[in-house]
Amino acid sequence: MVALRIGSNDDGAVTLAAERFNRHTFWCGQSGSGKTYALGVVLEQLLLHTRLPLLVLDPNADFVGLGQPREGADPADAAAIAEAGVRVLHSTQEGGERLHVRFVDMPLRSRAAVLRLDPVADPEEFNALLRGERDGTAQDPDLIATLRASGDPARERVATRIENLGSLEWDLWARGALAAEDVIDERPRATVMDLGGFADPDEPKVAALAVLDHLWERRTERRPVLIVIDEAHNICPPDPSTPLERALVERVVQVAAEGRKFGLWLLLSTQRPSKIHVNVLSQCDNLALMKLSSPRDLAELSDLFGYAPADLLARAPRFRKGQGLFAGGFIEQGSLVQMADRITREGGGDVPVPVS
Ligand SMILES: Nc1ncnc2c1ncn2[C@@H]1O[C@H](COP(=O)(O)OP(=O)(O)OP(=O)(O)O)[C@@H](O)[C@H]1O
Ligand SMILES: [Mg+2]
Repeated sequence: MVALRIGSNDDGAVTLAAERFNRHTFWCGQSGSGKTYALGVVLEQLLLHTRLPLLVLDPNADFVGLGQPREGADPADAAAIAEAGVRVLHSTQEGGERLHVRFVDMPLRSRAAVLRLDPVADPEEFNALLRGERDGTAQDPDLIATLRASGDPARERVATRIENLGSLEWDLWARGALAAEDVIDERPRATVMDLGGFADPDEPKVAALAVLDHLWERRTERRPVLIVIDEAHNICPPDPSTPLERALVERVVQVAAEGRKFGLWLLLSTQRPSKIHVNVLSQCDNLALMKLSSPRDLAELSDLFGYAPADLLARAPRFRKGQGLFAGGFIEQGSLVQMADRITREGGGDVPVPVS
């Protein structure tokens, strides 16, 4: 077993079993409890001591510094991390490599979701897309003009919808350039998708959907990847309300239920268990819990994660920042841990209160 040293408690160093990241992991704690910081500690250890590729969906640019050691970090660790080959795909102009995905490679259902079309609620327009797929209109470079000239009211409505939503204009689309799907196919040690800087609130969700669709489509290749989703309530809420959210939730639920045997392993982080679809939560064999005060949330966690020691769970309202309970397959015995210091740069961090 490869032991990942993540922190310590009264009994000494605490380690996680690297091999047990071949299951799904749920990471929970209220805002400011230190989830993102602690998650970074674990990802650094995975980078240093395994060859497991990491894919990080990063909504707040918290992990854009994952390949950049801090001053004062252990020199050997710092050198190893700097050489690991962390790829950061940015959603903003200021960054380096840009984050793009390919519209044309997405499954029809997902492309329809980009246009907020649902196969059941919008049968005519969805069907127009389907027919466009079959007769090649979908690949037409002058798509809108062709749809308008078709003489078919459903196709004309699709053209109006595309124009009104403006989704074909998004910066997200690859338009022939290198896409996140290509980067992920190379399986770098870590790919960080910085999702925070897009103009349209649907863009980060579509970026997530495109890469999850892609990984799912190629699942039979059985190439392992740990899919880390911070602020996962944005990606798999319990009550998806738009076609895009429904497509995303269905995909994540599918990966949670069936991805394990193909090497598609999830690590989902959020503030409350009730913010994540229960069919995803129920598939998580590893739990990390930081400070959590709500008795209702703790009762839910205790129901869902029976393997977490009840006495430690009950202490969660009093956890200090950076303290977490780890339980499940990746740790020999459920334990309370004070997380170690980060080796790499944190992207976000708290804003200090101005006092003088
Ligand atoms: N173990 C730690 N040592 C030092 N600073 C920490 C530690 N854990 C967290 N912090 C700091 O506390 C602040 C909040 O931590 P973090 O962003 O990880 O919280 P969070 O649980 O992810 O919150 P949110 O749910 O709002 O994203 C950050 O500024 C972070 O740098
Ligand atoms: Mg966070």
